Amino acid sequence: MEKNRPLKKFVYHILIRRLTLAALIIAGVVSFIAYDHSKDMVIDTVIKVSQLKISMVRAQFRQLMKQGKLETKQALLEAINYPPGSNIRIREGRYVYAMIYNNQGHHIEAYEDHNYAPLNTVKQYINNMPASYPTTDKLEYSVIDIAGQPYIYTNTRLIAGAKQSPIYLHAVFALSDYAIELVRKQIMETIFYVFTIVFSTTLLLYPVITHLAGKLSDFSTSLLNANLEMLEVLGATIAKRDSDTDAHNYRVTIYAVALAEAIGLEKKAMKSLIKGSFLHDVGKIGIRDNILLKPGKLDQDEFSTMKDHVNHGLDIIHNSDWLQDAEDVVGAHHEKYNGQGYPQGLAADAIPLNARIFAIADVFDALTSRRPYKQPFSFEQTMQIIQQEKGTHFDPELVDKFSLIANKLYSEFSGRDDGGLKDQLHIVTNRYFHSGINTLSY
Ligand SMILES: [Fe+2]
Repeated sequence: MEKNRPLKKFVYHILIRRLTLAALIIAGVVSFIAYDHSKDMVIDTVIKVSQLKISMVRAQFRQLMKQGKLETKQALLEAINYPPGSNIRIREGRYVYAMIYNNQGHHIEAYEDHNYAPLNTVKQYINNMPASYPTTDKLEYSVIDIAGQPYIYTNTRLIAGAKQSPIYLHAVFALSDYAIELVRKQIMETIFYVFTIVFSTTLLLYPVITHLAGKLSDFSTSLLNANLEMLEVLGATIAKRDSDTDAHNYRVTIYAVALAEAIGLEKKAMKSLIKGSFLHDVGKIGIRDNILLKPGKLDQDEFSTMKDHVNHGLDIIHNSDWLQDAEDVVGAHHEKYNGQGYPQGLAADAIPLNARIFAIADVFDALTSRRPYKQPFSFEQTMQIIQQEKGTHFDPELVDKFSLIANKLYSEFSGRDDGGLKDQLHIVTNRYFHSGINTLSY
């Protein structure tokens, strides 16, 4: 259906935007969790390796103590990066700084890896840390960040100190390029898999969702079309009773929308105006034929009965949720700017804007149209009458705005009663009722 295309396109665009956004958020959150997990996994491995080595150093140190060979503790520290009996370095990284110290914080023996470029930065960081003296043999470690690089810092007690002063060891383990690359690779792989899974799932779901959304928008559009047809049918019904043609409803709607566009009326109010323009006289259906169709002038009682068409109209549209917003025009299209109109005698801005717009369109069409009892007035005569009624019947600002567009409207639509007029009306209704997702929630 031609009318449905903009709505479907709109729905699809929203779907693409929202699904992509949802996929990005899900992938982002999952990637962040996976990133943290991957990083922790690699760091855990490095911690295990570094802690194992420290445990071995501690055991060897205690052994040396028993054997009284403490003069070899420098050699012990030198071997801190090599597994026992091997000269192959640990691939996850190496200790770049280690120090044995006593309970006054005085260093007894130190190991420094002078091949490690940022050694001084590491030492400075460690020396600025408050001295720590563990009271148990538990290995205490933490992952610290020095100049943007992660390190494993370990602090442990080497000797408890029952017979002599306690001795401690602290050391800094730097992750190797291999370990850092391993973290990076694992993270990239995880993120790649997460994005692939999330986006392929979204792609699989997209046709299913668009199919369902297409069906829904088809259904909504057909409902909307049925409602718009009902508007036309109701308008045409009263036109038939009033010895008028459908064309009056079409023209006043086109005129009212043109004036409303000239003052920049918002879209929602425009929909109410279109409905109201079609249905302004729907209450005439409740007026007896002897009054509605009386050829001559109505007497006072008859006119009083005729005025009831406004309240009849309100009663009719109040039965429909979709039509209720037409009440501004239906209920106030006979009010006058000076308060001399009916049924409430509202004045100036107390008259709803849509009713003030419509009143000009309605009178303009009545004056420029042929009726059983009169010939059409010329454009000049019509505008003269409207100008005379400026500030009494009509809102003066709206008359000024209407004067700027009236000539064009007159030459294009006045007196027309053809298929082209209906087409023009449908262009106007489509502009406001078939223009997007809001048509689902008008
Ligand atoms: Fe009326």
